[in-house]
Amino acid sequence: MNIGIDSIAFSTSNYFLDLRQLASHRDVDYDKYCIGIGQTKMSIFPPNEDVVTIAVEAARKALRKVSQANRIDMLIFATESAFDLSKSAGIYVHRFLKLREDCRVFDLKQACYSATAALRLAKSHVAENPDSMVLIVASDVVKYSPHTLGEPTQGGGSVAMVVSRDPRILTLEDHSGVHTADVMDFWRPVDRKEALFDSKLSVYNYLKSLEISFGRYLEKVNFSAYDVDYACYHAPFCKMARKAHRQIFKNKSVENTLIYNAVIGNSCSASLYICFVSLLDNSPEDLGGKRIGFYSYGSGSVAEFFSGLMVRGYEDMLTAEENRRLLENRTEISFAEYENFGKADAGGKKYKNIGDVTLADVENGRRMYAENSP
Ligand code: CAA
Repeated sequence: MNIGIDSIAFSTSNYFLDLRQLASHRDVDYDKYCIGIGQTKMSIFPPNEDVVTIAVEAARKALRKVSQANRIDMLIFATESAFDLSKSAGIYVHRFLKLREDCRVFDLKQACYSATAALRLAKSHVAENPDSMVLIVASDVVKYSPHTLGEPTQGGGSVAMVVSRDPRILTLEDHSGVHTADVMDFWRPVDRKEALFDSKLSVYNYLKSLEISFGRYLEKVNFSAYDVDYACYHAPFCKMARKAHRQIFKNKSVENTLIYNAVIGNSCSASLYICFVSLLDNSPEDLGGKRIGFYSYGSGSVAEFFSGLMVRGYEDMLTAEENRRLLENRTEISFAEYENFGKADAGGKKYKNIGDVTLADVENGRRMYAENSP
């Protein structure tokens, strides 16, 4: 049975900071950001937008192309930006999407890797229950402290994927190469909003884990690296993906996978799959029948290399123009606003949500979401 991604859509915040502004206020040459790191803008989240509100928007877009959403009996919310250590963020999404009451809902966490774990789990679930569909929502907001090396690599976004039999976009192949190692390259203790990291170790371990997991993948499949036509990578910043690509596929281009990431920034668990949407939307070549490789990396660390085959006619499932408009129509914020966004209280000044759902208030840890009235 063919199982894979039947529908996919992404979302991000309505606001961004141009990295020219950050460079000038931090006294850094802008070329370091746009050439050295490969980023030009980063999504910034106002207090009324969070991983749930953008996840609902991404999921609504993905579900627009699915006529039998009542087959969804599992919703997996992949995130490392959880605000509640008990209640699943997915339950809010379940409510706004009006999914069935007998739908299993839970969160998965392993840094930026968890959406890939969700994808493998969804594949097994559909193999056992061929009429089921699984909705995966990967959603993250990435924050580092001001003046740190990580500051230009913040961002955030959400991807929603519907996994089913007879998928209309990508059939997942069976084999993958996995590598797990206890490495302190990036972490966020529960009392902190901003992540901590070891820059050099994180880059080193990302590339080392790629070499090992890709090697394990090749040992299992009955084809060679030349049979992988395109590859998408977890992209904490675009240059990281370029380095990864150079390491394993010297002659192929990765640029079309990075167009959205360059202006969204790091979206952690969603990043790899936003790169996939960028490839789908921007490839001049018909990808039907092509094999796409995926490298998923979650600090800490777990890495996985896997692949899938593009379904012919996948173009009917794309919303390329809408995606470009979403990114072009965002509002630029000033540097002063950037510095204050994190400090404002939810329920304070009104900022525009990207979709219809807003975080209206937080009271005693209870998050209160509401639909924006038009
Ligand atoms: N013009 C052009 N290029 C310039 C330049 C200039 N004026 N100044 C510097 N550069 C180049 C450097 O030569 C370098 O290029 P190479 O990588 O090709 O050598 C590049 O810009 C970066 O410069 P540095 O090595 O000096 O960068 P840095 O010490 O400031 O760190 C960073 C950069 C690693 C991205 C840092 O922002 C960071 O630590 N970010 C957070 C952690 C991270 O994202 N790690 C990635 C792997 S971990 C992961 O993937 C999980 C996750 O999501 C976090």
